[in-house]
Amino acid sequence: MTQAIEHDLVRLLDAARAVRQHAHAPYSHFAVGAALLDEQGRVHVGCNVENAALPQSLCAEAVALGALVAAGGRQIRAAVVVGEAPQPVTPCGGCRQKLREFAADDLPIHLCGPDGLHRTVTLGQLFPMSFGPENLAKP
Ligand code: THU
Repeated sequence: MTQAIEHDLVRLLDAARAVRQHAHAPYSHFAVGAALLDEQGRVHVGCNVENAALPQSLCAEAVALGALVAAGGRQIRAAVVVGEAPQPVTPCGGCRQKLREFAADDLPIHLCGPDGLHRTVTLGQLFPMSFGPENLAKP
């Protein structure tokens, strides 16, 4: 890992850990924090926001994505997800599609626990042959 990538990972991990403390997860008791790096080098964060009407809950990644877009970002260069579980916490299927709108297959997604990095995968690994904006291009 180059120093620049490691530096971004530390920034993203710190931000995702911090925002995870604000998770509203009274139903699952499963707090998640996410941080996204945009094309300007800015970090955007989100935590899961559950709702008594459970399907209305928001995932941490979706909240972070909304913050990125609302701040004028249009590309995701790196992502960190922090959760505490025996297996690495990966974005759900819906979030993979949401991230795909603003990222390419080579997007690194760093799967982390509160103790740090567990594994890095790419969006393409998690979500192969996905449908994205290019698929809507007119022939
Ligand atoms: N969750 C996320 O926010 N992100 C993930 O990557 C996995 C799951 C949330 C949804 C729900 O609030 C809780 O974790 C349990 O599924």
